[in-house]
Amino acid sequence: MSVLPTQPYKGTTDFLPKDLAKRNYIFEKWRKYLIDHSYEEYETSVIEFAEVYKVKSGDELGTKQLYAFEDKGGRTIALRPEETPSLARMVVDNFDQVKQPARWFSIPNCFRYEQPQRGRRREFWQLNVDIIGASEGWADLEVLKMSGEMLLDFGAKKKDFVIYYNHRGVLDSFLREIGVKEDELKAQVYKVLDNWMKTEEKESHKALEELIGEKGKNQIACLIEGMDRETELWDDIIDDEYPEFARIYNQIEETIGGKFRIEFNPCIVRGLAYYTGLVFEAYDADPVNPRALFGGGRYDNLLDLYGKSVSCVGFAPGQVPITDFLETHGLMPTEFTQKPKMILIPTSEAAVQKCYISEVDKYIAEGFAVEVDIALERALNKRQETAHKKDAKAVVVE
Ligand code: HAM
Repeated sequence: MSVLPTQPYKGTTDFLPKDLAKRNYIFEKWRKYLIDHSYEEYETSVIEFAEVYKVKSGDELGTKQLYAFEDKGGRTIALRPEETPSLARMVVDNFDQVKQPARWFSIPNCFRYEQPQRGRRREFWQLNVDIIGASEGWADLEVLKMSGEMLLDFGAKKKDFVIYYNHRGVLDSFLREIGVKEDELKAQVYKVLDNWMKTEEKESHKALEELIGEKGKNQIACLIEGMDRETELWDDIIDDEYPEFARIYNQIEETIGGKFRIEFNPCIVRGLAYYTGLVFEAYDADPVNPRALFGGGRYDNLLDLYGKSVSCVGFAPGQVPITDFLETHGLMPTEFTQKPKMILIPTSEAAVQKCYISEVDKYIAEGFAVEVDIALERALNKRQETAHKKDAKAVVVE
């Protein structure tokens, strides 16, 4: 019989105890912060009906990256690539029990058929923080504030990261005003904006000009460079169409900009199709980590898909990019506080029995993590040496 391969499936991770300790450290910090802010934890299944992603997550996630397959009953199901559609479905399914606004979080593993690279895996864990049933306004500011504070909570400094925000609804209206009306063309303009920060300016200008002509290109370039004429149009749209967002728009930088860097950036469009308002992403200031640390936004229509109209806003940091971020900035602890170890070394069968009857409990009560060395056949000094190698105290039990 041939020997089976030992590597895990491409893009998934085997966590040795030392690696799991790092992941748990991150999860525990997240949990503590969120519980302190009155958020409640929930969980859904890793298996979800595939259709929702095809309709609402956008082409990238909904088709190209989706792990979808047919079950034995002929249903098309998927390994969740994100949590938000499952949250939407669960909220509608349990509608009367969800006291809105509900502040909820979850730390699911998600699956995307992506090219594994720094910051990106095929299986990854992602914290999801959402407010369910809160219309546009202060709730948007609350999640923005929390998203940045949670990085500060790991010890990050203001200079270490930046959050960029934008508004999808305003951007859509702006594009319409300057003549980008068809969905297909809008999607192509979105793509150029999405790549703006990673592309040479000349190339982005050229791509825009090819799509919407010189005038349109200039209008968008002016918006990105913050020139007056176009930002006036932008502000008019906010005031006329999104008065609730206008209320917080000028407060964002005032309220939270003192704590961390947060900047308006019209290039943030986000790949997911369901966003309707605020959209935001965070980036490491160190270019060694170029992928987003987290992303989020407002989705006021997603629950309509399941038959209820509920306004929601939230965000999701990924465990992989956050680990890279913490390690890059020297913020990942090297030691994880564990109980001191105690190894009991019984010298006979009766002594083993004594350990299991009383000694283990006795040392646990004294604050140790306790293990019984049952290798009675080995020489006593060898057993003591092994305990020493495991950084444990050793007690011989007669
Ligand atoms: P997303 O931007 O697709 O948004 O993912 C959010 C975060 O998940 C990313 O910024 C990154 O940290 C992490 N992430 C995504 N893909 C991978 C990957 N292949 N490997 C490692 N980490 C990854 C969403 O998923 C939205 N559902 C977030 C949301 C929650 N919006 C509102 N509420």
